Amino acid sequence: MSTTIAKPRSMRPTSEDDITAEVLRRVEATPDPRTREIMLSLLKHLHAFIKEVRLTEPEWWTGIDFLTRTGHMCDDRRQEFILLSDTLGVSMVTDLMSNSKPPGATESTVFGPFHRDGAPEMPFGGDIARVDRGGVPTIISGRVLDLNAKPIAGAMLDVWQVSADALYDSQDDTLEQMNMRGLFRTDSAGRYQVRTKRPVHYQIPSDGPVGELLRATNRHPWRPAHTHFVIFAEGYEPVTTHLFDSIDPYLNEDAVFGVKDSLIVKFEEHNTRDEAAEKYGIEPPFCTTEYDFVLAPAKAK
Ligand code: BEZ
Ligand code: FE
Repeated sequence: MSTTIAKPRSMRPTSEDDITAEVLRRVEATPDPRTREIMLSLLKHLHAFIKEVRLTEPEWWTGIDFLTRTGHMCDDRRQEFILLSDTLGVSMVTDLMSNSKPPGATESTVFGPFHRDGAPEMPFGGDIARVDRGGVPTIISGRVLDLNAKPIAGAMLDVWQVSADALYDSQDDTLEQMNMRGLFRTDSAGRYQVRTKRPVHYQIPSDGPVGELLRATNRHPWRPAHTHFVIFAEGYEPVTTHLFDSIDPYLNEDAVFGVKDSLIVKFEEHNTRDEAAEKYGIEPPFCTTEYDFVLAPAKAK
């Protein structure tokens, strides 16, 4: 039979600061050094935050309810926690710390919650707008290069974009297809060509807890027009990125802080049957833009 020896009353934590110290003491022995570092820092900051704002019990309940509803809103089509991280700038700060690239390599940006696995592989120049939702036909083309400007053949580009009606396919119950999504491979000269619609600005989902938080803090939900890319090639670091339209009014106030200067491109507007119309076999009006992605070599493991 074991006997529990109670601590003398005077040794038990009683003040706010005693509790903090006791919590930190109990995680001190965490065996994994990185987990220990993260937990100690998290608890220090969390306790300091609660004390700084003098959190009340009703506010604590509001926080618990907010996080609970955020979790309930997550499934294979909706990731409210990623959205929360994105709108709080946590995703982009993490991206900047984790994905710094050597000079000349294409910069990364936020992944977002709308990527879907299983997009179909498309031929060179294939059209990802399988279902017509309007919009201006657009050709995005260019090369995938290494840091020495050598073309990378056989690189894979995973491309996705919102439709011209400002919805992703996963937000549109009338769509079965992987609309506005495709996988493209570079040819032997490292070239890729994607046919799409000119991207439009759109609102991130604001019908859940993240939307409530945006409204409570007087923030708008708009993202500037962009096309998403993840680019992979054997022997290189993959890059998760976007191309942004240079004339978009929300470039300076992206709801998720994802815009980087190097990712802004000019969409050239073609309103007559010009050379480009011939080259791409496309009727005006349409747009074109060229962008070379540059991959850094894979880090040694
Ligand atoms: C997106 O671009 O798809 C996106 C990124 C972050 C939050 C919401 C949407
Ligand atoms: Fe997007």
